[in-house]
Amino acid sequence: MLKLKTVRKQNAKNKRVLVRVDFNVPLDKKGDSIVVRDDRRLRAALPTIRLLQASRAKIILISHLGRPNGTITPELSLKPIAQYLREKLDLPVTFSTNYDNPPIANIVLLENLRFYPGETANDTAFAKKLASLANMYVNEAFSNSHREHASMVGVGKYLPSFAGLALTEEVRMLANLISKPKRPFVVVLGGAKISDKVGALTNLARIADLVLIGGAIANNFLSAEGFEIYRSFVEEANKKDVGDYVQLANQLIQEHKTEKVLKDSYVPLPKLLYPIDVVAAPTLDTSNTEMIKIIDLSHDMEDKPEKTKLQYLDIGPKTRKLYSELLTGAGTIFWNGPMGVWENPLFAIGTKAIAQAITTSRATTVLGGGDTIAAAHHFHAEHKFSYISAAGGAALKFLGGEQLPGLKLLTIPS
Ligand code: 3PG
Repeated sequence: MLKLKTVRKQNAKNKRVLVRVDFNVPLDKKGDSIVVRDDRRLRAALPTIRLLQASRAKIILISHLGRPNGTITPELSLKPIAQYLREKLDLPVTFSTNYDNPPIANIVLLENLRFYPGETANDTAFAKKLASLANMYVNEAFSNSHREHASMVGVGKYLPSFAGLALTEEVRMLANLISKPKRPFVVVLGGAKISDKVGALTNLARIADLVLIGGAIANNFLSAEGFEIYRSFVEEANKKDVGDYVQLANQLIQEHKTEKVLKDSYVPLPKLLYPIDVVAAPTLDTSNTEMIKIIDLSHDMEDKPEKTKLQYLDIGPKTRKLYSELLTGAGTIFWNGPMGVWENPLFAIGTKAIAQAITTSRATTVLGGGDTIAAAHHFHAEHKFSYISAAGGAALKFLGGEQLPGLKLLTIPS
């Protein structure tokens, strides 16, 4: 199990502490002002900041926002974030663009790191410049720890480095999933793109007792099994990466073919399950209920001309029922990716049913992925999860068994 040097017991009294946070949050433009749409990542950093404040440390917060590619991009300034921290989260933050000589204040937030090309290039001079601002470094940006950037890996070579409280908790929760989940461990994966989930899907399929697949990624599995998917979205060949994702789905099906789970103690089911029925329509933005078709994939194999226009947009009622029953008995559940196009109420029932089944189970429940969090929020289920990971790509890489570069210098050697 990964053990981290946490900031909790460090003496930061009167020290200058450089805290790498991930304030890469979604922003909306309202009139002339910019507002924070989701402040989860800002709130997550508060306990570490408060801990350091309590020991009278001088805190310098550094973060990226978006991908400005090393150029000053006014709409990606962290200034509105500083304002939000002051006004909404009651944090007395001084904003500064001055990396050479930041103001002396209790808490300073420096301008977007990615305005400097040295950040993403992991440039030594830039890392040294950051290190020169402080005498201690804290990584409180788990969600960016898969990036080998100056503020994530470079700076830690020149300063004593520690893990922030939220980062430590995130690593603990995710590590528990892959090292000692309470069984049965059920993984629910959905969403549109399979490419960013390949590693997590492959690794979790080996660790979990059951993998329930929905969303557009299910189309890869349906295709692999020879089902017609008509005009449904399917992410196919990506020559630079792992190749054909339908082939990947096929490999996973083959790898786990002989592993069975018993439902109701006697019905054997494959470990990897994909939908047995789907909700389909010609377009995802339709509001016409007459356009909606339920296709039972096990029976309704006949190709009719009207079917050729259809896209699969949600899991069907039989799949909802089966998945919900299987989730009821779980000891641990990890969910990433909606079951369908939940933004349209006509295709939201699958995602809503899964959210309900997960949150009414007695399992330890972990939710991940921006879209899935937004769906859970929409269905008022968000607060019922044991843990929510807002880490996106970093969490999927961690669950895929990869070593994240940003965690290396924080790890206590075993
Ligand atoms: C994220 O939102 O996943 C992190 O902040 C990393 O951002 P990036 O994908 O732009 O590197």
